[in-house]
Amino acid sequence: MTQSRWNGDRADTYDQAWKRMEQAGQNPHGEVDFVMGFEPTSVLDAGCGTGRVALELDRRAVHVVGTDLDEQMLAVAAAKAPHLTWVASDLATLNLDQSFDVVVMAGNIVLFVAAGTEAAVVAGAARHVGPGGHLVAGFGLGRGVTADEWEQYLLDGGLEPTARYSTWSGDPFSDAASYLVSVSQRR
Ligand SMILES: C[S@@+](CC[C@H](N)C(=O)[O-])C[C@H]1O[C@@H](n2cnc3c(N)ncnc32)[C@H](O)[C@@H]1O
Repeated sequence: MTQSRWNGDRADTYDQAWKRMEQAGQNPHGEVDFVMGFEPTSVLDAGCGTGRVALELDRRAVHVVGTDLDEQMLAVAAAKAPHLTWVASDLATLNLDQSFDVVVMAGNIVLFVAAGTEAAVVAGAARHVGPGGHLVAGFGLGRGVTADEWEQYLLDGGLEPTARYSTWSGDPFSDAASYLVSVSQRR
């Protein structure tokens, strides 16, 4: 059975934190703002959860597909946006037979995959990056995956790491950073 370290029982309450953020006047769409910098026409939201990122991309007229292995999370996403395509799959084995301008992995995905599957998950996401396209991902550091390990997974998946930031706002990365926003490209 496909597994991860994510607890799908959180599906019903997962969106509340983002709603609180919005109500407090903060921007819950930093990832989408960042992704839009690549001017994509198509995006794969890899590990889409309840569809927070995918829905906002759709709102901004980007063709988006969401995929996640947790059916409870996907059910919440599909209920919010039945017109979008939601694919239940482990990223490690995903094969959509389609590539995208950007594959985005928002929300610590690599920290929640089943232990030992990190390289396969990144390779699965990388398979869906089209020629010249980008994979962008953000996750907390000091929680099991280092920036160097992450970039080795990218290289093994055929992508070239091109930039590191410490926030989705594009703040510079340093060795003291507690968060990595990584950009890589299929040359
Ligand atoms: C913290 S949530 C992030 C959801 C969404 N990207 C967001 O930012 O709102 C992490 C998600 O990673 C998904 N996940 C974990 N391992 C996965 C895998 N191997 N393949 C696909 N999705 C996975 C979980 O099911 C969960 O929905």
